[in-house]
Order: sequence, then C-alpha cells, then structure tokens
Amino acid sequence: MGFLTSSIQVAARHARCSAQWKPHLLRTKEAILEAAALAQNRRIAVIFGAGLLHDIPLRELSSMFQEVILVDVVHTLRTRWDARSFSNVRLCALDVTGVTAQLSKIAHSRGEPLPKSEPTAFLDEKRLDLSISVNLLSQLAWVPGRFLKGILSEDEVAQTQKQLLEAHLHYLRRLPGHTAMITDVRWRSQPRPGAVAGAESATPQGWDVLQGVSLPRAASAWDWNIAPAPERSVQLDYIATVHAYPDWKHCSALAPPE
Ligand SMILES: C[S@@+](CC[C@H](N)C(=O)[O-])C[C@H]1O[C@@H](n2cnc3c(N)ncnc32)[C@H](O)[C@@H]1O
Repeated sequence: MGFLTSSIQVAARHARCSAQWKPHLLRTKEAILEAAALAQNRRIAVIFGAGLLHDIPLRELSSMFQEVILVDVVHTLRTRWDARSFSNVRLCALDVTGVTAQLSKIAHSRGEPLPKSEPTAFLDEKRLDLSISVNLLSQLAWVPGRFLKGILSEDEVAQTQKQLLEAHLHYLRRLPGHTAMITDVRWRSQPRPGAVAGAESATPQGWDVLQGVSLPRAASAWDWNIAPAPERSVQLDYIATVHAYPDWKHCSALAPPE
C-alpha cells in the first residue's frame, strides 16, 4: 500500500531538511515528555506513529516506563536497530485504523460496503498508562485516499477519510490511562525567503489536512517547515501547522472546537 516507500521518502527528506525540521522535532519531543509526566503510573507507554523515531524521545521514555511499545504500520530496519538498544522497548506492527488493508481490497472490487474503522488494540491492556499519537492523524486519511481516489466517488473518499480520523480521535478517548496527541492540522504554501514576487508558481495557498474534522483548542501549536523550497516547489515553502494535546481526554471533553 505504499507505507514502506513513504517511510523511505520521509527518511530521505529528513536528511535533506534536517535544519528546517529540527524545531518541529524538538517541540514534538517536548510535548511527548510533557504528556508522559502527566501519566499517573509508569507501566506501559504506547507510541502510535513511531515511524522513524525522529520525533520520539526514546531514551527518556525507556527510562520512565517499564515498557515502551512503538506502534507503526511499518518499521524500517533503522527503527528496529535503534529500538534494540533498549531492553524494555518493543515494536508492534499495526494498522491503527484496522481497515486500511480491507479498504485497499475493496478499492478493487467496487460495490461492497465500505468497512468502518473501530480500533480495539490495547483497549483491554490494564497496565497501559500512556498512549500518544505522534504526527499520525493526517496520515490515516492520506494513504487510503491515494488508492481510493478515482475508484470511489469524491464524496465516498472524503467520508471514508473523515471516518478514519474520527475513529482514531474516539479511540484515544477510550484507551485506558493517559492519552495525548500531536498532529498537523493545516498546510500552507508561502514564498520562500528571496522568492521572485508575483511569480505564478509562487501563489500561496492553504488547506486543511484533517478532512474537515475539527479539533479542540490546542495546548500548544507551532509551524513545521515540512517541505522547504525546492522540495515541492522552487519558489514555495510548505509549512504545516502542528497542534499538541498533552492531555487529549481533558482537551476533547472540555474545550470547545476552534
Ligand atoms: C509523519 S510520520 C510520524 C513521524 C514519525 N514519528 C517519524 O519520526 O518518522 C507518520 C507515521 O504514521 C505511520 N502510519 C500511517 N498510517 C498508519 C496506520 N494506518 N497505522 C499505523 N501507522 C501508520 C507511517 O508509517 C509513519 O511512520
């Protein structure tokens, strides 16, 4: 389904853009540690979207919790290698939506009803004290969107993507223990410093990456220069706005949507 290719592309972009990504990676690590400090006990911590571990303070988490479980749909060799340095860190290969593979099959056999995402992993894990969804939410819609587009109607694709996101947010409310979430919410393009004014290719744009799913007010927010020129455009930088919720259950229960 393209997950491994995506991971390899992210690794390559990280190498090219490490200076521009650094502030975002540091802010994410800080938000993770802030969330970890709020956990009432320190038995199991689960990280959803652990990926290449660029934004995961693994050493600190490993020293704080009895066990750290790194969840991702795919773990690269590099991640496996890094995880091996910690005796209490284990990898869990899991599609957190539970339906991506089904959706990809259905995409090829039209007419069947679309499966709904209702994640259940770890719901019965009584020793789970911390779960954090790390820069994952927007990705849950993006990958299935790629293979559903052109096969389902635009409306069906949008509804399916939205359901995947809402199911994840609901799942984070149902998991035992403390939960937190960090996610990009919007992207915008803007002229790179020194870009030629008025060049057509440099027209700035902005768009929602959460399929219209609204989130509560974030505890903190920052910009991530995710694709500085010339990654996607010679003239434009692509900037993601990232929101952090160190206490997702509290934020989603009390705070009104933005
Ligand atoms: C933007 S990356 C998050 C950053 C990551 N922590 C890193 O340092 O590379 C998003 C991650 O979500 C994973 N992912 C996407 N869809 C997923 C799914 N349905 N279930 C589990 N992981 C998924 C991707 O494999 C990727 O590693």
